[in-house]
Amino acid sequence: MARLRLDRPRRDRRWVAVLRAPAIRDEQVNRRDDGRLAGKIVCITGAGSGLGRAIALRFAEEGATVACQDLRLEAADETSKLLDGDGHRAYGGDVSDEAAMVSMFAQIYGAYGRLDVQVNNAGVDRLPGDGWDEMMAGEGSQISLMGHAAFMKMLAIHAGGTFICTREAVKLMGEGGSVITMASIAGLAGWGPIHYSSAKGAILGFTRSAARELGAMGIRINAIAPGVIDTPMTAAVDEALLAPMEMMTPLNRKGTSEEIADTALHLASDESSFTTGQWISPNGGLITI
Ligand SMILES: NC(=O)c1ccc[n+]([C@@H]2O[C@H](COP(=O)([O-])OP(=O)(O)OC[C@H]3O[C@@H](n4cnc5c(N)ncnc54)[C@H](O)[C@@H]3O)[C@@H](O)[C@H]2O)c1
Repeated sequence: MARLRLDRPRRDRRWVAVLRAPAIRDEQVNRRDDGRLAGKIVCITGAGSGLGRAIALRFAEEGATVACQDLRLEAADETSKLLDGDGHRAYGGDVSDEAAMVSMFAQIYGAYGRLDVQVNNAGVDRLPGDGWDEMMAGEGSQISLMGHAAFMKMLAIHAGGTFICTREAVKLMGEGGSVITMASIAGLAGWGPIHYSSAKGAILGFTRSAARELGAMGIRINAIAPGVIDTPMTAAVDEALLAPMEMMTPLNRKGTSEEIADTALHLASDESSFTTGQWISPNGGLITI
């Protein structure tokens, strides 16, 4: 009978970058050495706005060097210029574009030689053809008005982008690391349009499964599932739709980007060193499961 092996699996060498790391000069990294992320190299997608920008600001304050990624390169660049310390860079591209992301992570490797933390934050809550406007105009339920292409595009951005960026990021995490995925109460409890809730639910499943694979490499992966947070994304939603959610929230307000950045900081740092495959939902008490 085959013996069950209970010892720790070896690091899977196929995941580890085989290129020689370039020499990193002092001015290429954030030299702050007193923070909770001192010396860490971080990539944040969707860093040009809202939660991504707040996470970049907080991480840089804590000593991280940040690769700011966004579909809108100029917004990523604006964020990188707001950050404390040196060495931050901006990258463009769509997270659902595999070739663009493979190329971006190669550039990150060329610039920094490794990656310690990956934050998969980029996302949208609406897309052309998703039936939102028609539903708001009273033409019927969104599921009946949504095109298949819009549904699949939402999955491609959130679940596909999270998969592609995680796969490429962990290749650069030689000595272990932390991956953070951005889910939502939409993925936990269906508070959101059907394509968005489906995509966020997929991110939760991805996070659980990836944790089982990546643990042997010393890489942790956890999801944040925010409630309603005050960002440009929610500012574009009719207040009449958000007000009832706020009323049902025990803390009786929207959350702030800074509160989500603090949650991300906990998951990125060694403070959460025994936490993987989990989700944490800063939502003011709206959902308590
Ligand atoms: N704000 C909330 O209440 C809330 C709640 C739960 C989850 N979230 C999630 O948090 C994340 C950030 O949301 P936010 O509120 O900061 O939104 P935001 O619109 O302010 O910022 C999103 C950023 O992602 C970028 N982006 C969009 N599609 C992209 C793509 N395909 N590739 C690369 N970049 C892309 C945008 O250009 C933008 O800069 C999203 O994943 C969102 O679903 C937000």
